[in-house]
Amino acid sequence: MMKNKKKNLGYEENDRETEIEINKVYHFPKGLVTCKYKGFYLIINSEGISWLVLKDYEEFRAFQLLTEGYTVEETLKIGKEEAVINVITQIEAKKFENPICKDNKVRDIYIYLTNNCNQHCKHCYMFAGDIIVNELPCEQWMKVLNDFKENGGHGVSFTGGEVTVYKGFEKVIKHAHEIGLVVTVLSNGVLWDEKKIQELGSYIDEIQISIDGYDKESYYKVRQYDGFDKAIQCVKDFSALGTKVSVAVTPLYDNLTEFVDNFEPFARKLIKKYPQVFIKFNLELIPGREVCMTKEENKNYKQILRNLVERLYPNYYTETFVLNYENHFLRKNCGFGGISISADGQVFWCNRIHELVSRINILNTNFKELFAESDKIMMDTSVDNTAECKNCEIRYICGGGCRLEYEGIKDVGIHRGEWHYICDKKEVIYDKMIKCNDFFYE
Ligand SMILES: C[S@@+](CC[C@H](N)C(=O)[O-])C[C@H]1O[C@@H](n2cnc3c(N)ncnc32)[C@H](O)[C@@H]1O
Ligand code: SF4
Ligand code: SF4
Repeated sequence: MMKNKKKNLGYEENDRETEIEINKVYHFPKGLVTCKYKGFYLIINSEGISWLVLKDYEEFRAFQLLTEGYTVEETLKIGKEEAVINVITQIEAKKFENPICKDNKVRDIYIYLTNNCNQHCKHCYMFAGDIIVNELPCEQWMKVLNDFKENGGHGVSFTGGEVTVYKGFEKVIKHAHEIGLVVTVLSNGVLWDEKKIQELGSYIDEIQISIDGYDKESYYKVRQYDGFDKAIQCVKDFSALGTKVSVAVTPLYDNLTEFVDNFEPFARKLIKKYPQVFIKFNLELIPGREVCMTKEENKNYKQILRNLVERLYPNYYTETFVLNYENHFLRKNCGFGGISISADGQVFWCNRIHELVSRINILNTNFKELFAESDKIMMDTSVDNTAECKNCEIRYICGGGCRLEYEGIKDVGIHRGEWHYICDKKEVIYDKMIKCNDFFYE
């Protein structure tokens, strides 16, 4: 056998047909786990975020031979050629031998600038307008942002209440952008006008505008405010300026099917007119002013809205699942431990701040300390410290479920030992891993 003899695998990478040395012996990472699921063999790197999907026993056999140290040529002789080529193609395309894994160190925060609002939405989880908060002045926020940036901060999302009713809102937004932060603004969109959009548009990287209806009446039912036309105008004006715009939609649970039937044609028109605008559906109704959903209701809510998303954006969930792995970040958490700061400066480890207890105020700390604490909280609540997840072979692909469901989460920082979580998502993740497999070759 010639040392550098190559086998053409017949798949293309960067427009070139890829060849493989036929005397190559593979060395796979430790911790591979095989799961047989719905007739497929999933070969999962339990210490990373990579996997193979083998479609039948022939492919599994080929993989076994390669694992046992047989060369490509030997495997081709013993196994079924087509199966061997499929497996090797997958191994090479996914760089399965030497997977890259990184910890996500991107520092993004949420700032609730105010708890005041010009609307009084039925679902509002912030109870905006009802709960009065001593707001920090804008000069204080500017200092907070400086410290955030100096300690490696990346992005800031301003939310509330309604940010546009906060005195000095413009100054804070401009400052955040000027010091180099990626700025996202969450707004109901009704207090903007063309002049304000012209003035601030270039300081905002993304604006998310809530539109919870398909016409004036349906919007009014949720938001108790005649703001539909204004919100649409806001989408139009920001889009014209070239700012990245998304529309957030959070329907009520009552008459959801009727809502979806009417929203779908409206959404299609919106997408056609503004193809750059992405419509984001909130897939869960968290406890709010006039909403308190059961688990079962939220499951149904999620399913109905996911179906709508799939109709509006075919393959959306499969593609985003793949995109999650592009940066090679291990998912050790659901995001819990990330920093959210309320209008009075209290620090929370998740943006559902009313469901948590805060023990730190931003005025008595700094981001060096906060990031260290945030890292500790993330580690403490990671899949590696969750009884149900720590031995799960897909823990870094999944990241575990919502930490707010962990019993005792309000005592995070004080709680000692492992966390407990009832998992009901393993099969959903397996399904996604199989469904999205082809996208890894593109
Ligand atoms: C609290 S608001 C603040 C920003 C702005 N005032 C707005 O309405 O867009 C942020 C987002 O949370 C959504 N929201 C409010 N209450 C909710 C709930 N109970 N469950 C899920 N999302 C909710 C809103 O519809 C909005 O898209
Ligand atoms: S969802 Fe937004 S606009 Fe509605 S009441 Fe809450 S903060 Fe105000
Ligand atoms: S939530 Fe379930 S699938 Fe996800 S890591 Fe935990 S045990 Fe595994």
